[in-house]
Amino acid sequence: MLEDFESYLKQNLPKVESFHPHFNDALSKMLLAGGKRFRPLLLLSVVEASNPLLVKNSYPVALAIELLHTYSLIHDDLPCMDDADLRRGEPTLHVVYDEVTATLVGDALNTHSFYLLANAPLSDEIKIKLVSILARDGGIEGMIIGQAIDCEFEDKKLSLEELRFLHYNKTAKLIAASLLMGGVICELGKKELDTLYDFGLKLGLLFQVQDDIIDATCSSKEAGKPTLNDGHKNSFVNLLGLDEAIGHRDGLVEELVSEADSLEDNLAKKLKEIINKYFKG
Ligand code: IPE
Ligand code: IPE
Ligand code: MG
Ligand code: MG
Ligand code: MG
Repeated sequence: MLEDFESYLKQNLPKVESFHPHFNDALSKMLLAGGKRFRPLLLLSVVEASNPLLVKNSYPVALAIELLHTYSLIHDDLPCMDDADLRRGEPTLHVVYDEVTATLVGDALNTHSFYLLANAPLSDEIKIKLVSILARDGGIEGMIIGQAIDCEFEDKKLSLEELRFLHYNKTAKLIAASLLMGGVICELGKKELDTLYDFGLKLGLLFQVQDDIIDATCSSKEAGKPTLNDGHKNSFVNLLGLDEAIGHRDGLVEELVSEADSLEDNLAKKLKEIINKYFKG
């Protein structure tokens, strides 16, 4: 499924006709560099479990989420944010080109994600819901306020509750949105959608706890991005210490594996596979 999505992505890279010498290369560079495609995988797993006939029509939606996520990474790496020179194993756009190009590529991927949603082969009613969810969770009520707090509170220690708020917003909501949008495409009922979203929030918290552990324990070659880079940040490792952060991660894994069983069988199986693949040990 992810392989088919990957070819879809390659065939549908954003591009523009112009005489700019490198804008199209810059637009696709970070998308082609790879990444785990964790959010598309979540969305497509929900659709495949609930209505496999809709998987192909969901590719533009999965791509929209990946574009928005990739934009968030490009901006996250800018000198004014985390100042990182490596992403997905490649030099970052502001290093290869310049800050203007990196900023504008981020802007372009952000707006293009909504263009993809608006033009997806789905009903207008569903598309409006998808636009609304992605704008909310990838926007000011999600990723943006998370990133704003992340940067504002460098070198200022947050409480654990505030750190959770930060991680829910900067990372977990977009991950929860990926599951929810899959459920919306399949027209699941309100209760199922709420359960999926709550599951996604916890999965997203786990994802960021794991990301904080990666920063403290992996080489930049393994991670594909600079590591030991969170020294000034409020991270789970900085607030709890590495051992407790690992304990917290393992606790979340256990909770999620057991909560997955309250979901429909096919979906529970797929989500447990994903958790085992990405978060065990
Ligand atoms: C990194 O996201 C930023 C976070 C939200 C933790 P990913 O770990 O999903 O990055 P890619 O997409 O695999 O490069
Ligand atoms: C970034 O979190 C989350 C985003 C919204 C992009 P990090 O700053 O921890 O992500 P990495 O470690 O650079 O991938
Ligand atoms: Mg950051
Ligand atoms: Mg960063
Ligand atoms: Mg990180």
